[in-house]
Amino acid sequence: MEVVVVPTPEDAATLVADAYAALLRRTPAAVLGLATGSTPLPVYRELARRHRDEGLSFARARGFLLDEYVGLPTGHPERYREFIRTELEQHVDFAPGAIVGPGDLDVAPLEAGPAYEQLIREAGGIDLQILGIGTDGHLAFNMPMSSLSSRTRLKTLTPRTRHDNARFFDGDLDRVPTHCLTQGLATILDSRHAVMLGFGRGKAQAVREAVEGPLSSRWPASVLQLHPHATVVVDEDAASQL
Ligand code: GLP
Repeated sequence: MEVVVVPTPEDAATLVADAYAALLRRTPAAVLGLATGSTPLPVYRELARRHRDEGLSFARARGFLLDEYVGLPTGHPERYREFIRTELEQHVDFAPGAIVGPGDLDVAPLEAGPAYEQLIREAGGIDLQILGIGTDGHLAFNMPMSSLSSRTRLKTLTPRTRHDNARFFDGDLDRVPTHCLTQGLATILDSRHAVMLGFGRGKAQAVREAVEGPLSSRWPASVLQLHPHATVVVDEDAASQL
């Protein structure tokens, strides 16, 4: 695991966008693992800028989302697929249909995990997986106590996560979905390069546990210690407990 401390999220975005640019130059048909949440936004903004100003192209690339709510209609603004459309896809040149999420498959919820894993395998696996980290150390929707060997699956959202995310649903807990589909921790470990970002003091404990703590499902992000090529990019606040 390499840990890089940078002054600001914008510095992190430059560093990570360089990795995307190098990958897409080497492998134009690269497979990108896409995360939601506020953390990857500076990276997505920088990728959009490089597409606009420098011609960085995603035309042959494919994208796989990390996770998705179950039960939100297509086009719902809180659907993670919609988030990726507005924050990244519509600013660059992905081909139509090149991005897929675990909630986009026309299969029963209990079939979606294995079907999604098969799609990722058929695409050749994920080359570059970007990740945020929850304040409790969660990755995607793999909350504390998720199995370190988990694969993409249907999960029940915990009361805490539903409560935390109610702010995105006008504060109305009843409108927050009860279930989600998420790549598992072992799915994330299969990516060729995993880049986890963390910004702000609120992430400092989770970053410390992930990087320096024992490997434990109590802090799911600690699974990245097993990844052969994991990069953690954090600002000084998020690095303050290292
Ligand atoms: C959600 C997402 C995670 C994300 C986390 C942190 O739970 N499912 O993938 O990493 O929130 O969000 P933020 O980046 O906004 O702090």
